[in-house]
Amino acid sequence: SIGHKVDSLIALMTLEEKIGQLNLPAAGDFTTGLASSSDIAGKIKAGQVGGLFNIKTVDKIRDVQRVAVEESRLGIPLLFGMDVIHGYETIFPIPLGLSCSWDMDLIKKSAQMAAQEASADGINWTFSPMTDISRDPRWGRVSEGNGEDPYLAAQIAKAMVQGYQGEDLSLDHTIMACVKHFALYGAPEAGRDYNTVDMSRQRMYNEYFAPYKAAIDAGVGTVMTAFNEVEGIPASGNRWLMTDVLRDQWGFDGFVVTDYTAINEMIDHGVGDLKTVSSLALNAGVEMDMVGEGFLTTLEKSLEEGSITEAQINRACRLILTAKFKLGLFDDPYRYCNPERAKNEVFTAENRQFARQVAAQSFVLMKNEEKTLPLQKSGTIALVGPMADNAENMTGTWSVAGRFEESVSLMRGIQNAVGEGVKIVHARGANVVADSLLESRISIFGKPTYRDNRPEEVLIREALETVRQADVIVAAMGEAAEMSGESSSLSSIELPENQRRLLQELKKTGKPIVLVLFAGRPLAIKWESENIPAILNVWFGGSEAGDAIADVLFGDVNPSGKLTATFPQNTGQIPIYYNHKNTGRPLPEGEWFQKFRSNYLDIPNEPLYPFGYGLSYTEFEYGDLTLDSHELQGDQTLSASVSLTNKGGHDGAEVVQLYVRDLVGSITRPVKELKGFQKVFLKAGETIEVSFEIGREDLMFYNHSLEHVFEPGEFEIMIGGNSEDVVRQKINWKD
Ligand code: IFM
Repeated sequence: SIGHKVDSLIALMTLEEKIGQLNLPAAGDFTTGLASSSDIAGKIKAGQVGGLFNIKTVDKIRDVQRVAVEESRLGIPLLFGMDVIHGYETIFPIPLGLSCSWDMDLIKKSAQMAAQEASADGINWTFSPMTDISRDPRWGRVSEGNGEDPYLAAQIAKAMVQGYQGEDLSLDHTIMACVKHFALYGAPEAGRDYNTVDMSRQRMYNEYFAPYKAAIDAGVGTVMTAFNEVEGIPASGNRWLMTDVLRDQWGFDGFVVTDYTAINEMIDHGVGDLKTVSSLALNAGVEMDMVGEGFLTTLEKSLEEGSITEAQINRACRLILTAKFKLGLFDDPYRYCNPERAKNEVFTAENRQFARQVAAQSFVLMKNEEKTLPLQKSGTIALVGPMADNAENMTGTWSVAGRFEESVSLMRGIQNAVGEGVKIVHARGANVVADSLLESRISIFGKPTYRDNRPEEVLIREALETVRQADVIVAAMGEAAEMSGESSSLSSIELPENQRRLLQELKKTGKPIVLVLFAGRPLAIKWESENIPAILNVWFGGSEAGDAIADVLFGDVNPSGKLTATFPQNTGQIPIYYNHKNTGRPLPEGEWFQKFRSNYLDIPNEPLYPFGYGLSYTEFEYGDLTLDSHELQGDQTLSASVSLTNKGGHDGAEVVQLYVRDLVGSITRPVKELKGFQKVFLKAGETIEVSFEIGREDLMFYNHSLEHVFEPGEFEIMIGGNSEDVVRQKINWKD
């Protein structure tokens, strides 16, 4: 068995070699703005490296693996990791976009394809899925997560782990996944990346933990720590998180890797020097140290001093070696280094075709007044805005292996779609942001925003001149790729002022405008939503974004994406999320303001666009909610159904959502919680019945003592096309 093989190997290892397995340096193949590690080859030969990341191409990886296998004393193969977050070279929509498809098969298949490409090119470990719940779109990394809802994010975490790891990790096309960032990384104060996190355990268990746990339940091989603190202790040194919760409560049996230099950062957190924080991390239950080399340089000393034990080092080493055995690396260290596969299985026409389909499923139609969309393939189309002809920015953040320059821009997508008969005119009209200093901070990862240094007025004038001949204006605006992602927090999430000014000028022409909104986060687009007739939110659609957007703009694909994160009225309304508590002074539904109620003077409590929201070119009508019983007991199940009619003129898909509310609890309960969803396809004119089975387990929650309990009593069952428009009925469920 693997256990015996690991034991025999460990028996041969020196202490230094065991500690070496816990070390994960970074090569310098990607610009992360952070230092890469030094003398990697020397350390590999000395048995001081367990894995390597940020290295790309099968030939390089094969070379490095050869050094490990042939030139180190014991020849232990290395793990090769990478941030394969939303595709490898074929890039899919950013995870936030992907989540808006609500399509678990599609998401799983995208992870499978990413694993297939990455494994063909030497990679056997991905730092994905990121499943941090976030309710704060100021935080740049909302782009990498699955939105605000723990139930949906848990389904996605499971689908992604299954997609990457498959049934058998040792197959050459499956790779090990890493759920991150444990824990609560998505809840930093003020949305500022790496900032302090503090919340009650009740909230952790009920609102934030489910997606991490779902990944563990799906058998994820590794867990990555978070940069933030949790209850005053940095996550990377937090024993309660890494041992009590992860190992003892959830039964995790893989290994824990830190985030980049997260151990060293505990010095700045203020909990000790490098030796202290390194032993803190090992004691907490961390097995692998990413980049910082605190383990490598201090654990021997700590062992001498008695602050850690050799058993702890052995345990960590054992878990890492076990992962290598599971991946099949001891049978064949070059299993993932097949140049033929690298040539034939990466960025293929077939994969790109799939990426195009996936992208179209991620778009959310926010508004479509007077059926402005779909567009006709005729006349003159003016394509305006900084994202119109900007291939490099289509893949979005964390697409490190992506071929940005070969992505399909919106301009090219529209050209491909319309053929000869249609005239396309183009003007940039505005830079992504007016401030060049800000823009220089945004342009990292080699995704240029193409600044035009002419004065703003000149750009606008040129755009107005260009659109004069047009029948319709397609305004491609919003964020550039790196305005979201790591270390890309914003204090204001409105559309940049210069772009809004351009839109205002375009509106004055009186021509129909379609805003194609590029975004890595929910944006506060109140003005746009009040003034622009059609808005298609396309996030960052990946390698094939341009073609996919054209598919939707011209009606070849009917949009069906639904928001997985609330769009606020303005930045000050953050945090705003659908599954909030009622408070003791709720505002009566439909009211804007009442004195001494929980509300604002200047804006309503409602968001601009709620969780679950998204339009289609067709129209769906929900019938009444039918329940097979209103009085339930014990282990019975409830069947809830609605009839759904496609009463518009297009075939289309709808995401039917099931919510519940626990009306009385021993602790306060959210006003709604998603408990099920189905994406169904209806032909124009078709009516179907959509049913959900609800069991007692769907109504359980963590009580004040953190016990997972069912409390009998009254519940509300709700079904609808978004979290606000629901049909509802009450039930009573006895013990
Ligand atoms: O995987 C990432 C993580 O999400 C953020 N810090 C760097 C890691 C490795 O690149």
